[in-house]
Amino acid sequence: MTNNPNESPSISEPDPRELFARLGEESFWRIARAFYARIAVDQLLRPIFPNELEEPIRNQAEFLIQYFGGPEAYSIRKGHPRLRMRHHPYSIGVAERNAWVAAMTGALEDAQIPQPDRTVMNRYFANTATFLMNRDE
Ligand code: HEM
Repeated sequence: MTNNPNESPSISEPDPRELFARLGEESFWRIARAFYARIAVDQLLRPIFPNELEEPIRNQAEFLIQYFGGPEAYSIRKGHPRLRMRHHPYSIGVAERNAWVAAMTGALEDAQIPQPDRTVMNRYFANTATFLMNRDE
């Protein structure tokens, strides 16, 4: 027994790298397609993204597959993700960050990602989107 709840296996959350084996590759393509279907109609974010969304769908799907423990197709094709550097060209303030997170939260619903994995993903996205902000307001 322990008094520290973080040491209790029953309430510990899955390691992000376990998600690929459990969810399977197709789930990540469903997430990427659902995410960009939302970006395509997002008034704030649509203008920031390229006209053609096929390549962004592939970038996002392969990145997520790799991050959540699957094959490293993203890095084989594009090198180290370097997310801060790759987002440098885009102006990301709190409104853009929140709109991105809302689109991805909706995409996880659209793709019917089950719990507890959905919570693990939402936490990763919320934290990373904050880390990628490069404008003060
Ligand atoms: C959890 C947060 C995020 C993750 C994991 C993420 C991930 C990625 C990845 C992997 C790429 C492809 C980069 C490449 O290979 O060149 C990308 C591109 C991009 N991201 Fe993000 N991003 C996040 C947040 C944001 C936010 C908050 C914005 C701002 C609105 C944003 C805007 C863009 C744009 C405009 C592109 C270019 C589309 C492309 O060429 O693929 N991202 N992002």
